[in-house]
Amino acid sequence: MKILQLRRFVSTILVLAIVFTSFVGTQRVSAAWPEPVRGRHAMVASQHELASRIGAEIMKKGGNAVDAAIAVGLALAVVYPEAGNIGGGGFMLIRKADGSSYALDYREMAPAAASRDIFVDKDGKLINGEGSSTIGYRASGVPGTLAGFDLAFKKYGSGKIRWRDLVEPARALAQNGYVLSNRLAQLLKAYKDNLGKYADSKRIFLRDGDLYKEGEIFRQPDLAATLARIQTVGASEFYNGKTAQLIAADMKANNGLITLDDLKNYKAKERKPLTGSYRGYPIITMPPPSSGGIVMLQVLNMLEGFDVRSMQYNSAARYHLVAEAMRRAFADRAEFMGDPDFANVPTASLIAKDYAKSRAASIDPKRASDSKEIGHGVVASGEPMETTHYTVVDPQGTVVTNTYTINDLYGSAVTAKGTGVLLNDEMDDFAARPGKPNMFGLIQGERNSVQPGKRPLSSMTPTIVLRKDGSLWFALGARGGPRIISAVTQSVINVIDHDMNIQAAIDAPRIHHQWFPDELMYEPFGMSPDTLAVLTSYGHKYSARPGYVASATGIMIDTEGVRLGAIDSRSDGMAVGY
Ligand code: DON
Repeated sequence: MKILQLRRFVSTILVLAIVFTSFVGTQRVSAAWPEPVRGRHAMVASQHELASRIGAEIMKKGGNAVDAAIAVGLALAVVYPEAGNIGGGGFMLIRKADGSSYALDYREMAPAAASRDIFVDKDGKLINGEGSSTIGYRASGVPGTLAGFDLAFKKYGSGKIRWRDLVEPARALAQNGYVLSNRLAQLLKAYKDNLGKYADSKRIFLRDGDLYKEGEIFRQPDLAATLARIQTVGASEFYNGKTAQLIAADMKANNGLITLDDLKNYKAKERKPLTGSYRGYPIITMPPPSSGGIVMLQVLNMLEGFDVRSMQYNSAARYHLVAEAMRRAFADRAEFMGDPDFANVPTASLIAKDYAKSRAASIDPKRASDSKEIGHGVVASGEPMETTHYTVVDPQGTVVTNTYTINDLYGSAVTAKGTGVLLNDEMDDFAARPGKPNMFGLIQGERNSVQPGKRPLSSMTPTIVLRKDGSLWFALGARGGPRIISAVTQSVINVIDHDMNIQAAIDAPRIHHQWFPDELMYEPFGMSPDTLAVLTSYGHKYSARPGYVASATGIMIDTEGVRLGAIDSRSDGMAVGY
């Protein structure tokens, strides 16, 4: 016991040391483009400075990028509660220095008691509020984050850092607290109505109504206790220990669906990474149950037939072309994509270069198509069945690009009683009513209907791009629902077609189109009235509320091997390198 306390004391000091250490290796230099952060050995780009520092420390101690990614993910669950999580799920893409790559699917799974029409009433209308797919106890899928991290640790970790040492920085931050940023204080306030509906969320995140202010210390003792159990027993504690019992009991008491058996049966899965290329540069990305990789590759394949470089990154011609390609790829998403363990997803046909050529043939360079007339394409049948982002690269060159989420900000708004764990509302990523829009306005088909044990279709797009000689060039991902795909795809184009560094590529203005609603979403700060006028003359309709098109983080390796880190200027976070 004494030894344990001593260890915790030492690790608390360590975390504080990380927090207050100097910004060595994080300087920027000015240039025409926004410049990334530089590090000669390793880099972590995440949406919270403390989490990035923790990841860098793990690598300094001999851990690899996988070890660091796990510690970063656990830390974000504490310091970035709007999206960082252990109550959600996601995807981790790993490329080892030897060139082998691996895709870990730890997406949430529908509980056994879920069924196709669980989120509609007897008149076929979507249920709102409690009982819906967006808020409350029924909105949660069985969380996968800890199972995913456990799989990553056991199979791809360095073996030099103990599990307990990866959990400790997060536990200490939950126990001792951290200084609340203005952004987090504002965000908690903005979500007070939802969080206030659930007793533990209200107590922990809203201090029972006495809202936290910027600069106050935010402590989460319940989460610290949960992390301490996970630290001692292992990730399995979440699935069959006291944490599992607490989640199942709270679910039962509140008409939720997740049972102890659901938790026990959850498994993270390895998938074969999806591979493609853009103008000869190899791309490694996430296969289903994410749609992200397929849709991105489809768009890139369609663009290959056009001289994008000569169009310039912020021209009406280039925005138009990207929007038209996205319109077609999202129409395919709606029809063909879902969990490959339940639905036949014709992945190979969809990402074939010839298929893209036939889809792109109907793009008129000066006329917007009408989404009502753009259906899904015709693909060969009979194929075999099959949100926050951070990126880490270690001194050996292993890269991890990880997107995980609880879906909406603060997920379902439910904190499972006594655990401090915010639960996801990932059930809304299923098609609650096939053919009708979800919270992101996305239309999805039967392949993505609710079924027990099935994973909902995602748009998360962790992606790695190689140089033509096969060496690691850059890796990135984003948060922001279906807009993730637009953000990652346009960042890839910005690097390859427009010669941008990773920071400039991520910062550059972008657009989004998802077939339906038939609207081109743009960023007011990035779109000139002249450009809008040209796009209007092509017949584009606009989003009533133009918004930010997701936010991305990424890393790049320059020709000298220097690691460059980039956080989207649309969002918070910090890249930390050394
Ligand atoms: O998996 C998906 O596609 C969504 N659940 C991601 C949600 C998201 O990015 C929210 N971000 N702010």
